[in-house]
Amino acid sequence: MTISNGKTHRRWLRRAGAARLEYGADYNPDQWPREVWDEDVAAMQAAGVTVVSLAIFSWARLEPSEGTYDFAWLDEVMDLLHAGGISVDLATATASPPPWLTRKHPEILPVTREGEILWPGARQHWRPTSPIFREHALGLVRELATRYADHPALVAWHVSNELGCHNVYDYSDDAAVAFRVWLRARYGTIEALNDAWGTAFWSQRYADFEEILPPRLAASHPNPTQQVDFKRFSSDALKDYLIAERDLLRGITPEVPITTNFMVMGETRGMNYADWASEIDFVSNDHYVLPGPQARDELSFSANLTGNIAGGRPWFLMEHSTSAVNWQPVNVAKKPGELARDSLTHVAHGADAVCFFQWRQSKAGAEKYHSAMLPHAGTDSEVFRGVAALGARLKELAVVAGSERTTAPVGIVFDWESWWVSEQDSHPTDRLRYRQEALDWYTALLNVGVRADVVPVGGPLENYRFLIAPVLHVVPAALADRLRAYVADGGHLVTTYFSGIVDENDHAWLGGYPGAFRDLLGIRIEEFGPLLDHESVTLDSGAVGTLWTDRIDVTGDGVEVLATYKTGDQADRPAVTRRSDGTGSASYVSTRLGAEGLTALLPALLGPAGVVSELPEQLRGRVELTIRGEHRFLINRTDEPVELTGVDGASGILEPRGVLVVHEKH
Ligand code: GAL
Repeated sequence: MTISNGKTHRRWLRRAGAARLEYGADYNPDQWPREVWDEDVAAMQAAGVTVVSLAIFSWARLEPSEGTYDFAWLDEVMDLLHAGGISVDLATATASPPPWLTRKHPEILPVTREGEILWPGARQHWRPTSPIFREHALGLVRELATRYADHPALVAWHVSNELGCHNVYDYSDDAAVAFRVWLRARYGTIEALNDAWGTAFWSQRYADFEEILPPRLAASHPNPTQQVDFKRFSSDALKDYLIAERDLLRGITPEVPITTNFMVMGETRGMNYADWASEIDFVSNDHYVLPGPQARDELSFSANLTGNIAGGRPWFLMEHSTSAVNWQPVNVAKKPGELARDSLTHVAHGADAVCFFQWRQSKAGAEKYHSAMLPHAGTDSEVFRGVAALGARLKELAVVAGSERTTAPVGIVFDWESWWVSEQDSHPTDRLRYRQEALDWYTALLNVGVRADVVPVGGPLENYRFLIAPVLHVVPAALADRLRAYVADGGHLVTTYFSGIVDENDHAWLGGYPGAFRDLLGIRIEEFGPLLDHESVTLDSGAVGTLWTDRIDVTGDGVEVLATYKTGDQADRPAVTRRSDGTGSASYVSTRLGAEGLTALLPALLGPAGVVSELPEQLRGRVELTIRGEHRFLINRTDEPVELTGVDGASGILEPRGVLVVHEKH
């Protein structure tokens, strides 16, 4: 497939030997007495573990007081693991600063929007922009890199941990200083900033960059462009920190690849990972299942997006859970089959490593009820048997390692900036959920058995003959031009409510909505018609819309009305339209139909593009198909057995939550 920027995932683990799927976990031996370490290595071997992420939260142990280092224990662990044939993805250990540092320098602690300090006592209590934090953290990284540069167990560097998980938005004075530097670089002059921020409104005009603050708690709605710029800046500040650790590591160990674990999952949105991916040698992701009706599909969606952030190349699943987590209101154990199905769904979408948080379940601390590969119950447990079985299965699947994702016929466009801006305050509704809308389309495509890629907006959109751009809200002129060219070249584009509304400065495109796409879609909207929570509308197709409606006038030639509102304020007006443009088309869905409604609508949309399911009819909806080169994954989405008929190379029964991999040439 075409690689969007040719820069992602330059390298994989530094190790000799045949390609394989890696298997392992975060390993925290410093929580356990020495004698447990030997047991650990033996049990890891029994489970088929090949790699561990080590020392992620060990700063206080590695540097017990300023400038004093204690590496003896880590030397021993590294040697033990190596002797046991287990590789190490060594953390830089900077994720959680030690008490001596915050005592001496409380000015590294993050500050919330409300002005409250985030005190030590948990983790990640550091300001991304703090020069003092950076100096101390890089000091530790330098010592670690120098000491372990030539250690034979070291296969990769794991920078920090989940950068931005708890500290992405810091409103401190350090952040204010760095924000101003970032704004100067973006705008050059204060006049340009005033234009972009629309500061003629509410007497916000700035005379000098020094007057600018982060969008701290204010009397009313903070300036929207200031808010979006602060989001961009906050993602960039963490990226800048990642680059600082990376550059230091590259200087000392140029041959050791570098990664950091992303959190492409659920509503975690602060870090624009599509923009970060090219800074590291290979992409890693952490994913935890969020309970709910689309839990399984959300996992698949996240894995799919991660694979496309990685440019289609293999990536590293750094963390997920063997069973329950500890941080949800109710933490439910996985059902039989879920452990393997979840892991293999990640593999299906390009993961070449399956790792967990964590190896041995902690007996103390906030995560003691979080599942692990080796649970409190010990090796004589269902979880451990499942873990060992999965290790054996991954060994059998070694042939999959290194294969790239095969481009799907349909692309779903994913845009961090539209996510950020479409959900800001002072909008027609505060109920809109960007990622949920994208997920609903994904589920609908699974329901009709059509493969889709979730692709970052900067990715190779032209590779898809059918493109869905849900709530593509922020549309700079260049993106509008690109999508116009896509349709003119025969592409089929579908977009939805609240798309094409603003430019990169969050300024409305004028002349009627959706300004950036009005001509392309051949429609014009004078006013939005958001719905109250208890309201819904019915379409002539029988579909039910919630959240949003639009007052649409058809203005262009060649526009077909695919569905009309039957009820509500827009009754008799178009609800879903399609404008044909040569061999291409541009469609618009003006209300929230949800996964079910979109499933019913999809055949009408996909038809003219000639996109059909690659699955036999009896499997559509029940089985998810993904393809990595010569390997086809068939994933049972249901809790029922599915009889496999009509698929080359596959037969028999796919167990509830089961996964079958068909290798074409092997
Ligand atoms: C991740 C984190 C791990 C662990 C895990 C629990 O966010 O990186 O250290 O806390 O969650 O689910």
